[in-house]
Amino acid sequence: MGVKNSRLNFSKKSPKQKGPQSNCHDLWTSLKTGEKSEHDEKEHLQHVIIKELFKANFSSPIHNILSDPDAKILDVGCGSGFWLLEMVADYSTPKYFGIDNLSTFPTSTVPSNVKFTQHDLLEGLPFPDDTFEFVHIQSTGSEFTEAQWETFVYKELARVLKPGGWLEVCDPEIEFSNCGPTLKQLNLTVCNCLMARNVNPQMALRHQSLIKSLPIFSNVIHEKGHIQMGNYTHKIAKISTMSLKEACRDAYKGPIGKIMKIDPKEVDSLSDKIEIECELYKPYYFYHRVCAQKVIT
Ligand SMILES: C[S@@+](CC[C@H](N)C(=O)[O-])C[C@H]1O[C@@H](n2cnc3c(N)ncnc32)[C@H](O)[C@@H]1O
Repeated sequence: MGVKNSRLNFSKKSPKQKGPQSNCHDLWTSLKTGEKSEHDEKEHLQHVIIKELFKANFSSPIHNILSDPDAKILDVGCGSGFWLLEMVADYSTPKYFGIDNLSTFPTSTVPSNVKFTQHDLLEGLPFPDDTFEFVHIQSTGSEFTEAQWETFVYKELARVLKPGGWLEVCDPEIEFSNCGPTLKQLNLTVCNCLMARNVNPQMALRHQSLIKSLPIFSNVIHEKGHIQMGNYTHKIAKISTMSLKEACRDAYKGPIGKIMKIDPKEVDSLSDKIEIECELYKPYYFYHRVCAQKVIT
């Protein structure tokens, strides 16, 4: 299929783990991959928060391609496909492709110009060089080690972009500020678990400079959005607090809870405590969007 130089010999996760894995599924959730609807609800909430924060599903200057029937758009780590399905609803002309290493995307009732494929990015994307006008990757900063980002991920995304096409990387900082004691302890445990897997919890802060350092990209744009919890005068604070509380509840019920030696009977009171602390301490974190154009040689 003309895919060049993309397969690298990474040991992606610890050797004990088998089959496709996702750090977000492993660490932040008590759900098995099969328990789709609850997972979808959380992913949808996050999608709504990001869209409200940046006031659009993308920040790259790509309006010209959205009415082009030959244009191709790729979402990498597409999850349940909310971003792609909303894009196709808003801009129905291009062709859309979603890739995820887990089959969490819809398999039926998908518009004819949308194709989802289960595939591991670290195996190299299953597309020839110079295929897409726009490549989007969101909330996957913790899915790859810092070394994988540095040596492979941006370059592989660039490979499948057409010259003149746009890459957009959107990620949250995982380390929160102004946490109360309960959230602080949980947040610290999550960050430590990610670091033990050679993942940088603050990878979102590195995208801009790493992309800028690659000569294949130019016109790098950076946008930053502030997600405030507990302060309900902020438009998305209520929904962000709710989403955080549910994420924490799941984390306590899953592997993180085991590491923290949380008694399952305490889970509800701890997540209620997090909500109360949000109102007292007003914790916040940032989402970053970095857009860059592949150079025309
Ligand atoms: C936090 S979710 C984000 C989903 C979606 N992009 C969104 O914004 O809602 C991260 C996604 O990356 C996927 N992922 C993790 N490692 C991957 C890999 N090596 N190749 C492809 N997808 C991967 C996970 O399965 C998961 O669906």
